[in-house]
Amino acid sequence: MRNKVTIVGSGNVGATTAHWIANRELADIVLIDVVEGLPQGKALDLTEAAPVAGFSCRIRGTNSWDDTADSDVVVITAGIARRPGMSREDLVQTNAGIVRNVTMHAARYSPGAVVIVVTNPLDIMTYLAYKASGFEPHRVMGMSGVLDSTRLRAFIALELGVSFRDVTALVLGGHGDQMLPLMRYTYAGGIPVEQLIPPERLGAIAERTRYAGGEIVELLKTGSAFYAPGGAIAEMVEAILRDERRILPVAAYLNGEYGEYDVYAGVPAVISRKGVERIIEIHLTEFELQCLKSSISQVRETLEKL
Ligand code: NAI
Ligand code: 2OP
Repeated sequence: MRNKVTIVGSGNVGATTAHWIANRELADIVLIDVVEGLPQGKALDLTEAAPVAGFSCRIRGTNSWDDTADSDVVVITAGIARRPGMSREDLVQTNAGIVRNVTMHAARYSPGAVVIVVTNPLDIMTYLAYKASGFEPHRVMGMSGVLDSTRLRAFIALELGVSFRDVTALVLGGHGDQMLPLMRYTYAGGIPVEQLIPPERLGAIAERTRYAGGEIVELLKTGSAFYAPGGAIAEMVEAILRDERRILPVAAYLNGEYGEYDVYAGVPAVISRKGVERIIEIHLTEFELQCLKSSISQVRETLEKL
């Protein structure tokens, strides 16, 4: 049986995710949106690229949940995106209603799916989706750490003038300005970057990583990033569908890990067909742990307001 992925929301991130998934031949794809014609148009456009791009996935656009039935993975990108001057938190009220609603539908039509939440503010929306789905927490996760880490990897590779492929990195915490880029866990060709780049440059790169989403918003002016987010989502979809057991930073449900309960936060986890197989607790300095906890407490504060 071919794998099936539903992408809820066919805007910039949704359509770009479909593009990356098709390029990797991961699954047949259903794009769904409330706007009539939008998912159909994008699905048709992508389908017409198949002969030249060389993929054989079927891509369907729809406004009907019936077409999403029995998906293996559901990616939730529905909602509004940031514009200049807005924080991710400014999106919370509008997106909370949308995410609750689409997750209930997704869970009803695809009761066996793994859900990846993308809509911002990410850690909060992932928690709401978990509650709305009624799924076990390991089957609901959020995408942000893979994006934040790929941005850090790109900046390090550019700084060193080396291949992007040789840099690995880890960014933990909430998907906000308080995220925690961990230079101690960042390597180029297996060499700790702290041996290759002076501390003040590493500090500047960490700062750029924290505000990387905002940097794109300021440049685009009409919305937020979608190429790197789409690529990061495809990486997670691949880990799930191919049962790869990859270690990826994802927003996962904490039940005692890092001393936190009943909250979603960005942590390294083993990702497989089951979803989040297990969370890995790494050694953090007192300062790093405080940063992680302060980013989590910001998430809790917004959740409580909701
Ligand atoms: P967009 O505005 O291009 O697309 C959003 C789409 O959602 C629109 O086509 C809209 O019609 C659709 N939509 C709204 N309500 C819906 C519903 N009830 N059912 C189905 N579709 C619905 O926005 P974009 O750029 O695609 O971003 C989507 C979300 O992803 C935003 O909240 C953005 O902040 C977030 N995002 C999160 C990232 C992360 O790292 N977690 C990275 C990039 C974006
Ligand atoms: C980003 O980091 C908007 O959260 C999104 O680009």
